[in-house]
Parts: sequence; C-alpha cells; structure tokens
Amino acid sequence: MLSQIQKPLQHTAVVVTRALRQHSTKTAPAVGPVKIGYPSEKVFNREDKYGAHNYHPMPVAIKEAKGVFVWDVEGNKYYDFLSAYSAVNQGHCHPRIIAALKKQADLVTLTSRAFYNTCLGEYEEYITKLFGYDKVLPMNTGVEGGETACKLARKWAYKVKKVPENQARIIFAAGNFWGRTLAAISSSTDPSSYKDYGPFMPGFSVVPYDDLQALEKELQDPNVCAFMFEPIQGEAGVVVPKDGYLKGVRELCTKYNVLMVADEVQTGLGRTGKRLACDHENVRPDLVILGKALSGGVLPVSAVLADDKVMLTILPGEHGSTFGGNPLACKVALESLQVLEEEKLAENAKNLGEILRKELRKLPKDIVSLVRGRGLLNAIVINSNYDAWDVCLKLRDNGLLAKPTHGDIIRFAPPLVITEDQLRECIDIISRVVVAFK
Ligand SMILES: Cc1ncc(COP(=O)(O)O)c(C=O)c1O
Repeated sequence: MLSQIQKPLQHTAVVVTRALRQHSTKTAPAVGPVKIGYPSEKVFNREDKYGAHNYHPMPVAIKEAKGVFVWDVEGNKYYDFLSAYSAVNQGHCHPRIIAALKKQADLVTLTSRAFYNTCLGEYEEYITKLFGYDKVLPMNTGVEGGETACKLARKWAYKVKKVPENQARIIFAAGNFWGRTLAAISSSTDPSSYKDYGPFMPGFSVVPYDDLQALEKELQDPNVCAFMFEPIQGEAGVVVPKDGYLKGVRELCTKYNVLMVADEVQTGLGRTGKRLACDHENVRPDLVILGKALSGGVLPVSAVLADDKVMLTILPGEHGSTFGGNPLACKVALESLQVLEEEKLAENAKNLGEILRKELRKLPKDIVSLVRGRGLLNAIVINSNYDAWDVCLKLRDNGLLAKPTHGDIIRFAPPLVITEDQLRECIDIISRVVVAFK
C-alpha cells in the first residue's frame, strides 16, 4: 500500500491516448496532459493497443485502493467518487470481505450447482431473511440478474397469470439501464446502447419514467406480466422520481396483477440512504434485483429475490449459471451484507448525502445548473457553456476521481464508508475546481 498522500499530478507534456482523442470536441487540449514516459502512459497505451475500444476511461492508471482512496501508478492519491458505479459501497478492499475471500479461496471456490455446497444455503438464508423474501436466485453480473427477473416474469405470466403462449409483455421505463446483453439493450432508449445491434427482443415496451398515467395505460393489457424499473435511474444521470412514484407503481402493479420488478443493482445496499431505494416509500416489490455492492466490488455477484409464487415457477434445468451461487461468491456476499448492516452504511449515506447536496447547491448556478440525488448517489449537471469532462480532469488533478455521463452530468457517489471530515475535504476540492472555471 502506498501510504503517503502525494501531490496531485504536475503536468508538463501531452500524451495523446485513445481516451483523449475521442473526446477532442470542445477545448484543446481536451484533457489534462500526462507526463511523457510516466508509468501511467504505458498503462494507457497498452490498453489502447490490445484492448477493445468499448470504453472511454478517464486518464488515470490505478494501482491500489483502500477504503475511499485509490492510488495511481505514480503514487498519486485520489478520493474515489464513482465507487466502481456503486459496487464498492463498503469501500475498496474492505478487510473483512477480503479476509472472507481469502479464507474460502483455500477451501473450495466452485462446485457448480451439480452438487450442494456448504456456503450457498447459509448465504441464501441470510439474504432472504434480511430482505424478507421466500427465496433468492443467485447469478453473477447485474445484467444476468435483470435477465433472470425477465425470465421469472415470463414464466409466471404463462404458469400463473395464464397469458397466452409467447404473448407476455414486460414494460420498462425510458432512460433505463440494466446492462449490455441483447435483452437489456432491447429495452434501452439510448442509441449508444442499442444502435446497430438489432433485431431486438419482442415483448418489451417502454413508457416514460416517473409517469404513472402512462404506466397505467400499458398495465391494462392483460398480457403485461411485469414492470421493471430503477427506483432512481443511475446511468441516466441519477434521475430521482417524484415522491409517491414508487407507491404509485406498487398500487398499479397490484391493481392489474403485474409483477413489480425493482432493479436495485445500483440503488440498493445502502447507496441511497436506505437498505433498498424502495424502502424510502415503504414499498415491497415482487422481485428485487441486486448486484454490484453485493460483493463489495470483489467479484461479480448478483441475485434476484422473490416469493415462492414467482420463484417456484422455474424448475430444475430451466435456468442457471455455472458460477451463480459458487462458494466463494456466497461467502463474499454474506460478509458484504453483514458489513453494510453492522457498519450502518445506509445511515452514513443518508446523513452525508444531505451535507453533500446542501454544499453542492451553493456552487455557482451558471456552472452547476442542477444538483440531485439521494443518500450518496448524487449528480451535478454542468451548464452547456462548460465541459463536464474538463471539470472531471481538473477534479482528478486535485485528487478526486469522478466520471462524466451523457456529456453534461457528473455523478458523485463515494464509498459509503466515507467520513464527514473526508466528505468536507472533497466538497472543498469540488468547490475550488468549479469556482476556478468562472
Ligand atoms: C441499475 C443497473 N442495473 C443493472 C446493471 C448491470 O450490471 P452489470 O454491469 O454488473 O451487468 C447496471 C450497471 O450499471 C445498473 O446500473
């Protein structure tokens, strides 16, 4: 571990990487330069040469991480304000989670579901009791969780609701993001997700987000089996619906015998100041999808929670995954959940989120036109006269990592283990950087 806080990057000469070239739309240079010959340059260039160009990373080459901090290959220390898209809610390399990982790695890592293992039941019992559902179906990535929820909804449609064969419909909200598989992008309204990947999944429809009237119109169709949505839209730029939306969705789903499927992959597990974002309106979805922080960012672990009436519609051999429910993942997930509970991370997110938004709202409105969020899932909208990418580069140069989305939005979502002192230091960095743009 690099222990010292080092000074921010001092830039002398520009290294042009793919990430930099792609962005060169507005100001020149588009990115803070990085010293030629520095180890980070080698990291950028190697990824650029040998890796597919399906990402556009911020130019920082991370070598180590602990808690709320990451260190780059030059030894510069940064606050992590993205938390791997909310996968490291418990902080990087949480000692308890890493200890659980190491201990189990020496025993058995994978059995496949062909056999029982001693870890799966223990984890299943814990997670179902914690969230109050009859059963859990373990998968790996968030998108597999979403796919599993769609399959459960369709099975339930045919077996229980008696929808005619192949007629089941699932409704999604515009602006949704639940991953990158063909099913996931079939419900997407973002051309950068779906363009040139057709043909798409039939039986998927989209209604505007935060619009109960539009939803009700669709749910009246007896072939609709589910409404799958995020209680706060993370990738869309932290879009928070009006108070009452979650309750309204619950009421409509109950009224029309449609499954309410909450995608809590990003909003769940303490991030918004409650265990689940749906808890803010005391609403119980029929299916809950979890991922990301379910492993504290250690390995891909996802899950779908549901009651027997839905879960038992899928029979042996009808769905699964080689790695889903593996002993290593179960031990890591169990520890990750216990850390969230015992360290009261949701509570911390709630309290510090309020401070963060209050302070961010003091920033000049001609640069930061909007601040929104809940708990420690927050975003600022940068006025179109300024470039969010450039703001993020300056934040990086001052020791804080964040990433722009949709051109003008910057998400602020630090690990939930952040302390008030650390948060105030970060607010100071953000304020200094933003004001310097004036
Ligand atoms: C709400 C939501 N659902 C699902 C996913 C997909 O998760 P994964 O990338 O692990 O497949 C994401 C990823 O960002 C997400 O934000």
